[in-house]
Amino acid sequence: MYAHRFALETAMAGYGFGFERVMNCAIGEVMSITKPIAPLLAELEDLLGPVGFTTDPHDLAPWLTDWRERITGSALALVSPATVEQVSAVVKLAAAYAVAIVPQGGNTSMVAGAVPHGRALLLSLRRMRAIRRLSPEDNVTICEAGVILSDLHDAAAAIDRRFPLSLGAKGSATIGGLISTNAGGTQVLRFGNMRAQLLGIEAVLPDGQIFSGLAGLRKDNRGYDLAQLLAGAEGTLGVVTAAALRLVPAFAARSVAWVGLDSPEHALSLLRMLEQQLGDAVEGFELVPDSALQLVLKHIPGQRAPLASQPAWNVLIETTAPAGAPDPNERLEAALATAFEQGLVSDATLAANEAQATALWTLRENISEAERQQGGSVKHDISVPISQIATFMAETGPALAGHFGGASVISFGHLGDGNLHYNVLPPEGVVAKQWLDSHWDVVNRFVHDRVSACGGSLSAEHGIGEMKLAEFARTADPARLAALRAIKAALDPTGMMNPGKLVPLALN
Ligand code: MLT
Ligand code: ZN
Repeated sequence: MYAHRFALETAMAGYGFGFERVMNCAIGEVMSITKPIAPLLAELEDLLGPVGFTTDPHDLAPWLTDWRERITGSALALVSPATVEQVSAVVKLAAAYAVAIVPQGGNTSMVAGAVPHGRALLLSLRRMRAIRRLSPEDNVTICEAGVILSDLHDAAAAIDRRFPLSLGAKGSATIGGLISTNAGGTQVLRFGNMRAQLLGIEAVLPDGQIFSGLAGLRKDNRGYDLAQLLAGAEGTLGVVTAAALRLVPAFAARSVAWVGLDSPEHALSLLRMLEQQLGDAVEGFELVPDSALQLVLKHIPGQRAPLASQPAWNVLIETTAPAGAPDPNERLEAALATAFEQGLVSDATLAANEAQATALWTLRENISEAERQQGGSVKHDISVPISQIATFMAETGPALAGHFGGASVISFGHLGDGNLHYNVLPPEGVVAKQWLDSHWDVVNRFVHDRVSACGGSLSAEHGIGEMKLAEFARTADPARLAALRAIKAALDPTGMMNPGKLVPLALN
């Protein structure tokens, strides 16, 4: 069912591309649809050389399947330009031959946002990995799209600064992908998502023009903000090749605690109490149910449970302090003692050193990987108003279990942002893949309808990609869809940029 729906969408996306060219282009350009591909491939090989061009199926294979291993695509070639000028030349050639471009970074999308199909070039940004500038005076870095997030963390630390966005895939996710999906992660609570870090952008637009806005200005009111428009656009409006990003001061010390409690309501009360007592020292506050922790302990080698008591719910808390401020461990410990007296917390441990702090974060950051090794889930990346989270969880879990014969929910994540990864696992005893394939759409609808009823979003941080396109089209406000389509049509009239992702086709 799912595979069928996907094939249909892809076919429609491909049709839309060809159809819109017929509608929008002069006869000579329309003829290019039937142009043979061989000369294009030869021109690309000339342009990029053997390091930047391949059609070898072995080279392409690792990049054609999404991270969750649910969708496998195909491409005419894998092209890996090393400069923005080369990206521009590739885009111009692709346009001339009516070939789609699918930009890709670390291929860590949770929604198959970078899987190419058919008459498409897979455009990898991974060779563009220079950090062009790191300025402690401006608190700005200029990074190319292929820079790996953890490399940027290290580079910022070397000048006593921080890039304040982190997530589990930091060892492979790239800056371009993080911008294109407006990634969130575990520090949004204090610093906001990728859009909040973005001070400017360099991008190649669908006509091949290079837009260069890398001055890193903190104030700039020259009308529409192209950087913010391309952020979260999932490569459907152009190819992000570099960005100006803000840096913040490095912290002098951090405190990391693993806290056991009875319910998500208690977790939320604890967060509000900590904010009152510690202010914006609270950087991370991640909800982890025992079921998620048990999966990590089962599948990820070398892990151990932080608490002996095995509470039903846990939160991972991180607070930080600048130089000269009171010890964050002492402050967090005192706050947790108060929470314990108030009955909010049942058990807790504070990391005694950096190694222990890292070990606690490793448990949290491996939930998705453990879930994948368990056989996967119908993943949802939802947000609802924070005040409605507890009710949503209390009502939706049992309703799902009743409706879908014992399916269970693992709900974890960014409680302070109202963003939960609300993942539905198959009932015991069934073949996971079969169950997921046959229940994908109905479980999606069941969860998203309840999210919509709360005024929530079906995509809090992972984007729409291919996987959520149909549900986005089904649930979105018509005005939102109309605006999205109008922007897409204005900037990418032929529909060549990452077709079949994010923007549902109009069906009239
Ligand atoms: C996370 O918060 O761990 C990521 O968004 C990944 C996921 O949802 O699985
Ligand atoms: Zn997340």
